[in-house]
Amino acid sequence: MYEKIQETASWIKERMITNPTTAIILGTGLGQLASEITDKYEFPYSEIPNFPISTVEGHSGKLIFGKLGNKDIMAMQGRFHFYEGYSMKEVTFPVRVMYELGIKTLFVSNAAGGMNPQFNIGDLMIITDHINLFPEHPLRGKNFPTGPRFPDMHEPYDLQLVAEADKVAAEKGIKVQHGVYIGVQGPTFETPAEYRMFAKMGGDAIGMSTVPEVIVAHHCGIKTFGVSVITDLGGFDDPVEVSHEEVQEAANKAQPLMTEIMREMINRA
Ligand code: HPA
Repeated sequence: MYEKIQETASWIKERMITNPTTAIILGTGLGQLASEITDKYEFPYSEIPNFPISTVEGHSGKLIFGKLGNKDIMAMQGRFHFYEGYSMKEVTFPVRVMYELGIKTLFVSNAAGGMNPQFNIGDLMIITDHINLFPEHPLRGKNFPTGPRFPDMHEPYDLQLVAEADKVAAEKGIKVQHGVYIGVQGPTFETPAEYRMFAKMGGDAIGMSTVPEVIVAHHCGIKTFGVSVITDLGGFDDPVEVSHEEVQEAANKAQPLMTEIMREMINRA
């Protein structure tokens, strides 16, 4: 696996004309940011040696390089989810490649179900911590030389970036929540009993991504910052139906504010 990562990184490096240290995973709620990237050059996943190919509706898989404001960046349009059938090694492969390319800071977004009674649909939640409930650990197996066998996880999301995001949000008058993201495999949304259990466990929001990528980034010493769009609510007295369409709609509505925060954060990174 490590050889494959290096092979992929070499292939990309040979074609890179910039040297970004910032990467973005354009998850739900951040699609629009792709259109703001200038001086672009792109690699469809299908052309990159060893890269998994993304399948989910609404994501066209490619790596985009260019500038966001004055900053050189690398962006992943389309991520790999465990529920699609990818192995954890595949889900986190792009983050391993990012490390080899010199990335130091990673920005991620996702859609999540809110369980904190203070949350509303459309809220942005800055992720301060997570609970990993994926059935397979992304670091299971032979340890990669990028980090220790038993990595410390006392600060999975960079606290300075969280503080910076609070400043940005306050300056722009954007309301943000803070919270713990629980990562589960999906693809089912939660039953009412599951929502209640996850809330009791200490989760504020729940979703099907991000945790594997953040763990691997952490193992490589890449600082991470994440925001969830709260697209639905669960765990309350009156269970409500959740659909993918509804999640997309809520995420689209919250998109301009998510984009504003991320754009500014990336510029300051
Ligand atoms: N649960 C899990 N994943 C999700 C949810 C949810 O309620 N909403 C958006 N992604």
